[in-house]
Amino acid sequence: MSNGTGWRGKKDLLSIRQLSRSEIEDILHYSLRLEPYSGKGKNLDICNDEILINAFFEPSTRTRISFDTAMVSMGGTFDQFIPEISSIKKGESIENTVKTLENYCDIIVTRHSEPGIVEKLASLVGVPVINAGDGINEHPTQTLLDLFTVLKHLNRLDGLKVATIGDLRYNRPAHSMNLALDKFDGIEIFGISPHGLEIQEEYKPKRNKYEEIVINMKNLDETLWKINPDIICTWRLRKEYIPKGEDTLGYSYMITKKTMSKLKEVGQLIVTHPMPFEEGAEEISPEIMNDPRIVPFKQERCGIQVRMAVIGLWLGHEDEIKVVGT
Ligand code: CP
Repeated sequence: MSNGTGWRGKKDLLSIRQLSRSEIEDILHYSLRLEPYSGKGKNLDICNDEILINAFFEPSTRTRISFDTAMVSMGGTFDQFIPEISSIKKGESIENTVKTLENYCDIIVTRHSEPGIVEKLASLVGVPVINAGDGINEHPTQTLLDLFTVLKHLNRLDGLKVATIGDLRYNRPAHSMNLALDKFDGIEIFGISPHGLEIQEEYKPKRNKYEEIVINMKNLDETLWKINPDIICTWRLRKEYIPKGEDTLGYSYMITKKTMSKLKEVGQLIVTHPMPFEEGAEEISPEIMNDPRIVPFKQERCGIQVRMAVIGLWLGHEDEIKVVGT
């Protein structure tokens, strides 16, 4: 049962800004320890008798379901709060809704379209609240699993050259990723976007090098070849956030077979994408999804072990996680 203080005094996980480099490293270390128990019938009993509620006010497949799987893998149970069939339909406020959910669970995972609202809701309840995406602000657990994927493939988080490309303005996981990478050393980030989708100042790295490059699709390949990155983070065009009436034609980037032909080899480069892909408007050409350097499906699998670590730590089970597999 949660001791009410969350992990190392942090009741909630709201932002990557809350975590130090060593805390991120610890979460990734624990994720690796938990990996053999991540899904598929080999559950731990660390979260016995504990209940997670997913309260998603925006659509999700992988974040929501990987949190479910993670909780079951830790030995706990989960329930879904579904706004469309809830008392919100009778006019109940979101604040009272979350205060009600607190009575029925030990930890709440929530996503909402309004930046900052998860923090506000977390302040109303005693149980840990995990931010699964608040508007265009942040998506911290996506970044933790992105970093875990990087570590698995490239074996380091320092000294990386990162091209972060696409819609940098409205992409919460892009924001969290920048903030996380900036905690490591010798990082160079190249923020590549079309005009109008540049990143806001508050999400730019402050310690490491950041170069903003504003181009359209026809210049993408040459730009990437010149940078020769270790990681290309591609981001979905978040049409749901782009103001209505804004012309999104010309905003799309796509990594193609030609793009990949002059980049680093397997073991030296990965191309990430948090998914989903919009069918017919993919940021990575479907014909190259079998290239081992392209890892979106591997990323989403890592979501289970990373979210197991987050659930276990924020429920106060660090000591039990430390000895898993010993
Ligand atoms: N990456 C991600 O957040 O995916 P979902 O919207 O499916 O949860």
